[in-house]
Amino acid sequence: MRLRDVRKVKVQGKRVLVRVDYNVETSAAGRPRDVTRLQATIPTITWLLKHGAVVILVSHRGRPAGRAAKFSLRPLLPTLRRLIGRPVQFISEPVYSHAVTAAVEALRPGQVALLENIRFEAGEEDDSPRLAKRLASFADLMVNDAFADSHRAHASIVGVAREIPAYAGLLLQREHDELSTLLKRPARPYVAILGGAKISTKLHLISQLLKRADMVLLGGALANTILQAEGTAIGTSFSEPSLLKQAAGLSVTNAKLKIPCDVITATKRVRQAPHQVRPVGRIGRREMILDIGPDTLDLYGRVIAKARTVVWNGPMGVYEVTPFDRGTTALARLIGRHRCRSIAGGGETLDAIHRARADRQFTFLSTGGGAMLEFLEGKHLPGLSAVAYH
Ligand code: 3PG
Repeated sequence: MRLRDVRKVKVQGKRVLVRVDYNVETSAAGRPRDVTRLQATIPTITWLLKHGAVVILVSHRGRPAGRAAKFSLRPLLPTLRRLIGRPVQFISEPVYSHAVTAAVEALRPGQVALLENIRFEAGEEDDSPRLAKRLASFADLMVNDAFADSHRAHASIVGVAREIPAYAGLLLQREHDELSTLLKRPARPYVAILGGAKISTKLHLISQLLKRADMVLLGGALANTILQAEGTAIGTSFSEPSLLKQAAGLSVTNAKLKIPCDVITATKRVRQAPHQVRPVGRIGRREMILDIGPDTLDLYGRVIAKARTVVWNGPMGVYEVTPFDRGTTALARLIGRHRCRSIAGGGETLDAIHRARADRQFTFLSTGGGAMLEFLEGKHLPGLSAVAYH
């Protein structure tokens, strides 16, 4: 799939609706916890401003049911202004109001505005033609730079692209190019590492990766369901019993698939809880698995040391609670130090990589969570098709 590059278009004096993904959490002080997704859109915004466009930013945040202050994009403004290096006007009114029309029409080349959370509007998630037409009326063309939301066929992603010429932003193109190499021609050995809590969200991906990758390493609570499917007692650990049959189907007899051989357990999931290393098969009835163990890390380290490509999504344990962050942190550093093409994605994974201070050592950090997983499963992403040559 070849994407329509916005840099091939003359944007001087044009109004450009830029769909970004600023779906980020804020701290108690109201600041974004992680600015990666904001920062990642700056090259496209800067390029458009430099070439004389008016930039109208559109994003969702969270999954609100109607207008709710806690999902407002307003708290992101100070960070956005700092990153763009110029004022950003916030347009908080509902998109059908005259105030929005007036505010958008008053913008001049080189100016930037951010619309309020587009999921406050009825019709965004149903791809309502009315909403798509209204958004399209604000601009001459649209740019999709929201890779992380491109698996959603929503009005601001695909609907607007039916109404006005639509192009791929710089971030969208980079995401597409980096992740496409994993599907088409990864340098081998190609190692995929999957963690996180739910195997239900990754079962299909694991089976796809078993076809494409040379080795698939699992960790996090999703590996618990596989251990349980094999008949290993997992104490009070989180698992998804309804998926035991499918998990067993992945089969540990598949030489490509590796699951933990030892784990860290505790009876409480709290900071500095008393904990121990347990070989799998020796987990107590009241214990829960909260991280991978040292032997597993050693084994995974040896596999990674031979890899020429590594893709990683999902932490190996409860990485936000010390000391159960050790496996994930060690893995981040290990991949970072190893000279290979390394790609990671997913909010928790990126957070863990930042905490391990390994972010600069990765080849590429994808802003996509669900979108990255769907892309790697080989699924069609409607947001990409909407800005592709047909
Ligand atoms: C994400 O954070 O993965 C994207 O912003 C998509 O959010 P959604 O799952 O609420 O559509």
